[in-house]
Amino acid sequence: MKFSPLCVTSLWIVPSLTGARILGTGNGQEEAHPEGRVCRNGAPLTWSPATQAVLSNMGYAEDILQALELYADGFTIGSTQELIVEAQDAAVSGATVRDGQAGDTDFPFGDIKPIVTMGERSVCSESMGQTVVGKPDGMGAYLLNERTVRVIYQSESYGPLEANEARAYPVNNGEAMIGGSHIAGIDYDREKLSRFMNNNGPASNMVVGFDSMIEKAYNLRGEPLGPRMEGNTTVGAHLSNTDANGQWAVEALPRIEYDWFYQSLCSAHMEEAYQWGPGIGLKDDLFITNEEWHAFDNVTNFVGNSKSLYAAGVFSLGGFEKLAEINPQSPDHVMFGVSGYNGDYSGYHPALLARQEEYGLRPDGNEYVWCNNIVPYRMYVGVKGLMEDGSRAPDDDFLARNGLRYGQVYGFAIDMTEDGPTQGMWRDEFHSNATFAYNGAKVEGKWVAQPWKWDGEVRNFEHDGSWDFQLPVPGMKDYKWWNSAGYDEGGAKTEHLSPDVRPGKTGFIQGSTAGYFGHLYVLDVEDVLKGVSGKELPKSFDGEYYVYQGELDVTKQIELGGKFRYTDDADGNRRDATRNWDSTDEDGKVTFEDIDGLEVVYTPTGMHAVLQEDSGNRLGERCLISSELEHEDDGKELTYYMVAMSGGAENTRMMAGVGIPAGSNKEAGSHEFSGVFDLSGLLRKSRGSFALGANEKGYRKREEDAKVELNDKYIMINVQAANFEHGALKHFGADTGGQIMIYKPRLP
Ligand SMILES: *[C@@H]1O[C@H](CO)[C@@H](O)[C@H](O)[C@H]1NC(C)=O
Ligand SMILES: *[C@@H]1O[C@H](CO)[C@@H](O)[C@H](O)[C@H]1NC(C)=O
Ligand SMILES: *[C@@H]1O[C@H](CO)[C@@H](O)[C@H](O)[C@H]1NC(C)=O
Repeated sequence: MKFSPLCVTSLWIVPSLTGARILGTGNGQEEAHPEGRVCRNGAPLTWSPATQAVLSNMGYAEDILQALELYADGFTIGSTQELIVEAQDAAVSGATVRDGQAGDTDFPFGDIKPIVTMGERSVCSESMGQTVVGKPDGMGAYLLNERTVRVIYQSESYGPLEANEARAYPVNNGEAMIGGSHIAGIDYDREKLSRFMNNNGPASNMVVGFDSMIEKAYNLRGEPLGPRMEGNTTVGAHLSNTDANGQWAVEALPRIEYDWFYQSLCSAHMEEAYQWGPGIGLKDDLFITNEEWHAFDNVTNFVGNSKSLYAAGVFSLGGFEKLAEINPQSPDHVMFGVSGYNGDYSGYHPALLARQEEYGLRPDGNEYVWCNNIVPYRMYVGVKGLMEDGSRAPDDDFLARNGLRYGQVYGFAIDMTEDGPTQGMWRDEFHSNATFAYNGAKVEGKWVAQPWKWDGEVRNFEHDGSWDFQLPVPGMKDYKWWNSAGYDEGGAKTEHLSPDVRPGKTGFIQGSTAGYFGHLYVLDVEDVLKGVSGKELPKSFDGEYYVYQGELDVTKQIELGGKFRYTDDADGNRRDATRNWDSTDEDGKVTFEDIDGLEVVYTPTGMHAVLQEDSGNRLGERCLISSELEHEDDGKELTYYMVAMSGGAENTRMMAGVGIPAGSNKEAGSHEFSGVFDLSGLLRKSRGSFALGANEKGYRKREEDAKVELNDKYIMINVQAANFEHGALKHFGADTGGQIMIYKPRLP
């Protein structure tokens, strides 16, 4: 199949190997993966005493030589078998505490094995010597051909804004060099992958390719990225690094040689063409990713976050957490769930002042305030085949074909009077109230088109759609955008979302940094979209929201399976993962905290949510999987099973300097689970052979996923280890540590 990445201006889109060829080795079915293709360590790394002597003159020579020894011993892609994550603290389990070694890996609710570790080097011919760059974030996978599964993942790197710079890479035939975040593909032998959890071998046995997935990159004006000029770059600038005139706007300059950088590619979602049924959904396979936040200079204005690959403007430019396609139930439209900060930009003052000057007071008589986290639940409807002005687009226009030039963002608005469904409470307050936010609680609302609409012209941020959620809801007197904390201050952020893929449903499951999550529905989509034609878009849709979990005490809902004990506190009191320990001063938090990663997996009977906190847990960050999701108003809450824990400033292995790889951890710190993808549909067999063909459309992968029972699933999860930032990671361009793993559940 074909695949290309896409980034949206604040969102980037990698078309899955389509025309744009962000791609690595081979372009889908045309080039079948050659018999016996394999990445083999054919020429071991060696150096003479004389080489070593001269290398010892370099700064950080000790670190670098230790890393070179690691590479001389192997450390090729997939070779690492030691896990970063663990099942309980080493002080409790008695696991050996040694740099480079795993702790307790006897997980009660399923088995886990790594398939790639950040810093490993390629021994594949197309990318010989290149390192795998962390921290791993959004992921997906697809069939490159009948014999090969390509795992695509992005690294969340911050270019010049953090300690380590990732290695840079060329795009557009070397016209521009890119730093910061990467998107890479790792190819695995499909047959070997399907048996990976039945043996003890390393993943390197099944790696058959590794390459960058970004070959071509376009900016928000559709120009190919080119070199950065002295002064203003008027053509080919990466516009999320500049203002609308192409003047550099980021607070720091690159420290290694490149022109532009992709900032904090956050979560991503793999969308296969027609994943909702024949002709329904995107026309191309794509990997949709987004720049999440930025640090701008306090004196220059800026455009806002843009994407790489294809920058898309339709979603507005406030930076995003995650976008995922949802079922449009119409062959002419596409729909997405949309989440994220809405303006996490330091150095925002020039943009705020410009907004206040040019637009005056808000209709409610107040000054505009900075827009970060003043935003409701959002979704997008686009019309396929149209340019921004509503005219017909050429058939080969990638963004237009996929409904990403002409469309509208809708916000979830509710009656905020005392008679409304929340008695006038904003989102965060509502979810922390046990009277209201029980499993099954329902909030009726409307999805209303926001006033702003992308018109194709690149302007500075004061004109962006991110400001709209301080305005009245068009045409709805008693309604307000259901923001997290109102119109005048930011509340909790909308984190990951996951599409509802059940037939006939349009909706998504949405999480929050405040630790609550629920299910949003867009109602009567088929009828409403049948009722509009051409470039017409509905003004609103009916909507419903159901709570899965409020920001309430979950300690009795968490199952530890006899593990997941942390170190005792100084007074000898027992601590475990039924609570969150983002602070160890007191007794831990009884609610979820900062649920970040969230993705739902489908089984023959229903759905389970994988939940990943990003709380700065000092004893070990948590990854959990829910019991089957339901939002019946029946007095029953969900159960959550601990999958794994990782890192922590007061975790025994971290404090003892254990890094994976060895030499990478010089200071204990917290970790973050940050991505989930169900591989099962790609690997399911029926009567001895694979059920899914490489040329089949996306809805068939979804169908196959849903046939696999939970305990037979191969679920890809990842972990980011931000404190693994030395040794091989620092000195060989791999940024920071982490691992991508396969988790095979074992739930009661
Ligand atoms: C360069 O950009 C700055 C900031 O937008 C602008 O003020 C200036 O006029 C531009 N210079 C030229 C020569 O266009
Ligand atoms: C940025 O500028 C604004 C307004 O001029 C000022 O209030 C703010 O303190 C500045 N922030 C920084 C980090 O310099
Ligand atoms: C929950 O909401 C009810 C009704 O508005 C209110 O009386 C109560 O104080 C709230 N509880 C909390 C814990 O805020």
